[in-house]
Amino acid sequence: MQQLQESTDADTSWFVQDRFGLFIHWGIYSLPARHEWVKQRERIHDGAYQRYFDAFYPDLYDPQAWAREAKRAGMRYFVVTTKHHDGFCLWDSDLTDYKATNTSWGQDLLAPMVDAFRTEGFKVGFYHSLIDWHHPEFPVDGLHPMRDNRDFIEANRGRDIARYREYLHGQTRELLTRFGNIDIMWFDFSYPHRTWGGKGKEDWGSDELMRMVRELQPGIIVNDRLEIGGDVVTPEQYQPRSWPQLDGRPLRWEACQTLNGSWGYDRDNLDWKPTDMLVRMLVDTVSKGGNLLLNVGPNARGEFEPKAVERLHGVGEWMRLHERSIRGCTASSFNPPPDCRYTQNGDRLYLHLFGWPFRHIHLEGLADRVDYAQLLNDASEVRMFVVDPNQRAQNTTMGGIPPGTLTLELPVTRPPVEVPVIELFLKG
Ligand code: GLC
Repeated sequence: MQQLQESTDADTSWFVQDRFGLFIHWGIYSLPARHEWVKQRERIHDGAYQRYFDAFYPDLYDPQAWAREAKRAGMRYFVVTTKHHDGFCLWDSDLTDYKATNTSWGQDLLAPMVDAFRTEGFKVGFYHSLIDWHHPEFPVDGLHPMRDNRDFIEANRGRDIARYREYLHGQTRELLTRFGNIDIMWFDFSYPHRTWGGKGKEDWGSDELMRMVRELQPGIIVNDRLEIGGDVVTPEQYQPRSWPQLDGRPLRWEACQTLNGSWGYDRDNLDWKPTDMLVRMLVDTVSKGGNLLLNVGPNARGEFEPKAVERLHGVGEWMRLHERSIRGCTASSFNPPPDCRYTQNGDRLYLHLFGWPFRHIHLEGLADRVDYAQLLNDASEVRMFVVDPNQRAQNTTMGGIPPGTLTLELPVTRPPVEVPVIELFLKG
């Protein structure tokens, strides 16, 4: 059930302006390269999983290059996995040895990343896993890699969630006091009813944790996965059918999506979304009042793989021409034609065409509302007219057009962009 516990302090003005961010899933799971849940899926014991910690050496890591790629793609904020479910930490935490600075790489990976993205003008977000499959006090449960290992469960019956909670709160404090102003805190995830030993707000001490987060970073945006709500709801790997609501009230929301079904680098996963689908997902999200957080899982050398770069460039080329149909835009009250979406920003209405119809498109309720229309990619005029609703169809003359409909005259040739957009200048 979606919940919200919005903080009046949370600064979301930039969030609803930017609309498009980069999600980064990176850690030692990039070495097995079989999805970020590999330890859980393959029931890998800590001892065996240690080989990835020992081999971790991202010699091609260049966070400036990541930030430039994200900027070029049109993204304006980023959220990175400071620690994922396997417990490995990207920063030099005082509270554990299981961190990047203890690998043969020997350096903090988070600080240079935050600096690089800030240099490109990005807002900074921290994903932090509530789950920890490495911590010795994290009680085994039905999701744990050792969930079927009777001996392990027996030997670890005495684990104390209170001591793990202390660790979780301590690390959260580190993250929110060492890296300057943090704009988003992205906790993941609560599962009180999903399996035996499921964990939720009591286990995490969510109320106290949320209080601390807001004290340390008053304007921060916190997501909705602490089981006590948050400032933004986070549908994952699906596109909501309409603007998510609670008791009839539209919610602030952000869809998080992968490029190929996996968050972490997954070498053999070929389920890649084509660029035009990614653009349509971005448009669809903003047309329903939401943000898109699009993920990249860098490989263990520290690079974005070519297929990811190719798609970021493709989305970026579309954003270069159509940025104003996304930034600061939201849902419109006008009803779009089939296979189209509207985004709106004040007196500018953007018609996004997912299909390219032959010659005409009819816009319900806009007959006397539009001053001018143009294709956004090249600012070429789109001619428009209103067909008399009483006009009868005959030969080349169309008829049966409902009253209040504005008809646009389209070129036969579809503009050479992932999703063509017509910018409509609404009358004042
Ligand atoms: C889910 C996945 C997790 C991923 C997160 C991102 O919780 O389990 O691996 O990090 O979604 O939204």
